[in-house]
Amino acid sequence: MKTQYIGKPVSRVDGLAKVTGTAKYSADFKVEGTLYGYIVSSSIAKGKMISIDTSQAMAQKGVLQVFTHENVSGLPWFSIKYKDMDAPTGSPFRPLHDDKIVYSGQPVALVIAETFELARYASSLIEIAYQEEAFTTDLIKNLGKSYKAPSGKIGFVQPKSRGDAEDAYEQAEFKMSSSYQHGAEHHNPMELFSTTAIWENGKLTVYDKTQGVSNCQFYIGNVFGLAYKDVRIISPYVGGAFGSGLRPQYQLFMAVLAALELKRPVKVGLTRQQMFTFGHRPVTTQNVALSASADGTLESIKHEAFSETSRFENYTEIIVNWSGTMYNCDHVKLKYDLVGLDMYTPVDMRAPGAVTGAHAMESAMDELAYELKMDPLIFRLKNYADEDQTEGKPFSSKELIACYREGAEKFGWTKRNVEPRSMREGNQLIGWGVATAAWDAFQMPSRAKALLSIDGKLVISSGTSDIGTGTYTIMTQIAAESLGLKIDDVTFKLGDTNMPIAPLEGGSWTAASVGSAVKGVCEDVKKKLTKMAVKTEGSPFYRADKHDLSFDSGYISDVNDSSRNISIVNLMRLAGVNSIEETSTSGPNPLNKMKYTFNSHAAVFAEVKVDEDLGIVRVTRVVCAVAAGKILNPKTARSQILGGVVWGISKALKEESKMDHQYGRFMNHNLSEYHVPVNKDINDIEVIFVEEKDDIVNPLGVKGVGEIGIIGVAGAIANAVFHATGVRVRNLPITMDKVL
Ligand code: MOS
Repeated sequence: MKTQYIGKPVSRVDGLAKVTGTAKYSADFKVEGTLYGYIVSSSIAKGKMISIDTSQAMAQKGVLQVFTHENVSGLPWFSIKYKDMDAPTGSPFRPLHDDKIVYSGQPVALVIAETFELARYASSLIEIAYQEEAFTTDLIKNLGKSYKAPSGKIGFVQPKSRGDAEDAYEQAEFKMSSSYQHGAEHHNPMELFSTTAIWENGKLTVYDKTQGVSNCQFYIGNVFGLAYKDVRIISPYVGGAFGSGLRPQYQLFMAVLAALELKRPVKVGLTRQQMFTFGHRPVTTQNVALSASADGTLESIKHEAFSETSRFENYTEIIVNWSGTMYNCDHVKLKYDLVGLDMYTPVDMRAPGAVTGAHAMESAMDELAYELKMDPLIFRLKNYADEDQTEGKPFSSKELIACYREGAEKFGWTKRNVEPRSMREGNQLIGWGVATAAWDAFQMPSRAKALLSIDGKLVISSGTSDIGTGTYTIMTQIAAESLGLKIDDVTFKLGDTNMPIAPLEGGSWTAASVGSAVKGVCEDVKKKLTKMAVKTEGSPFYRADKHDLSFDSGYISDVNDSSRNISIVNLMRLAGVNSIEETSTSGPNPLNKMKYTFNSHAAVFAEVKVDEDLGIVRVTRVVCAVAAGKILNPKTARSQILGGVVWGISKALKEESKMDHQYGRFMNHNLSEYHVPVNKDINDIEVIFVEEKDDIVNPLGVKGVGEIGIIGVAGAIANAVFHATGVRVRNLPITMDKVL
């Protein structure tokens, strides 16, 4: 029996540490003599500070310093053009840089005291006089000032049009044209952002909540003019992030600033309210117009999106591009514009852009299916794309038909009565909707290190992150299987800049990227052991053919005769070797990338029940069928999809940050008014992973499951709401007032 862990539902290796409280999150690190910081946020949206009086705060016993733009100056980054790894084009926000206010909630002062409570109290004593300027935060009112979204942000590609969509639309027999609106959303992971910075003997150690320790290391090095080697960032556990931890957040800057100046350890965290001041999923408005011939062949696709950004950075995400790839169509016109407003730069949030674009496009497909009087699933199959028409390339693999088929079967789609308002239970109108999802299967260059000790234990390390996605677990599985060890003999470590460099954990690329590096480094160790086995006198494989060796459960044995074997430990002893250490790099295959498009896909089926009198929408069932290549761990992968579906339900029905345009400020900046689903809002969710073999995408054949689960959900729910009620709600979230 060969050791086999890949593809098995292994429970989280970090599960025990998490449920027993021994897993340490950023704020849990306690350091002797720590000072506490409290951040003061701007109360106006635009203008400048005329004066900032900190004297009362400073007079408090135990307050050490109040940092403001008046006493923070000369930092190296003020003279260089620096961008973090996830920065869009433009000029990143610089905390405490000058007297200018560019958004409401902007950090304007940092109070440092012996206790957190004292710092918070002292912050209330600071008097700031502002001179306000006119501002605008309303996307819809400023559409006239839109400009083309520039390239430059990681993962962003300009949309490409083809054919003549205007003409085809004019000519076509069946058509639809609608606008779709999305409100803003803010990240609200359970764990708030927190940083502890320690400056000791010319070295900086930082405990931070982040999706990328290296990104923070480079940022701090550049901002404060420190050598990267003198900056160590540690982040072993992250209590949820999904985009909020991609860019260094401003508490990191604040904690390091104070630690360097005061030469004491400093802890700075953001409050729940301040979580609403560092970026959000942007407000967008989209126009989609589709046309088809009588047999349901798509004749044209027009999709344009307008999205908000700050005045200082051009935040971009892929909203409309998917509409050019998803279906066969010769005439496609895509457009993506930004509008600069007086707010902070938006930030990536799970499946950035795709969630927004798929909701509009998949609703539009449903609308046109009704025009055609065709079943919306049959309409999609009719226009199924076997090739990526945008790039003129085949997909490395695409089992979306299997997603439609297996999902529809599980859901019972054929029992659907196509007429709106045709299915009910008492005063509950029942609706069924379907939508499609796609996401890029990225791979980024990554490094990993292996250390195999004489006790037979293997430690693999890579400076990646586990934001709850299961990185610890799947990397342990990959290592154990690649080297033929028992899983209990393998430990995977992450979240430390002393480890080999890894990309940000984002874009659903960690399994493919870091996983390939882990596999690669284990294969290097295996080669060393193989060489040792055939070169060491006394080894049962001395002078044997290396192809006859097989690795299993910590033993090396003959493929033809398993009684001929030696344990790895005994071989190392025999060879007089105490440990084997290897580091290796893995990256995407550029030739394959040129020849193929790598996408994951999903089909989402949703059932809603709508209270006819009250307009309350409940999502009673969701089936999400996913094609994402090899599934490394069906248990953790299923959890990823479940989480995506829950967030999709939230997006469709609950979440929205409401901006008060009079003040330029988000009003509902707390969890009582920023609605997220509770347990009772979530009912049956069925996850299906369809078989998808892909030898091209990467050595592991994996495509990532972090984002694909959320993408189609809002579209499927919106379509189900129409089917239930006959009301087409195109403005998310779908609240009861819009349904009635
Ligand atoms: Mo994800 S939005 O790339 O953390």
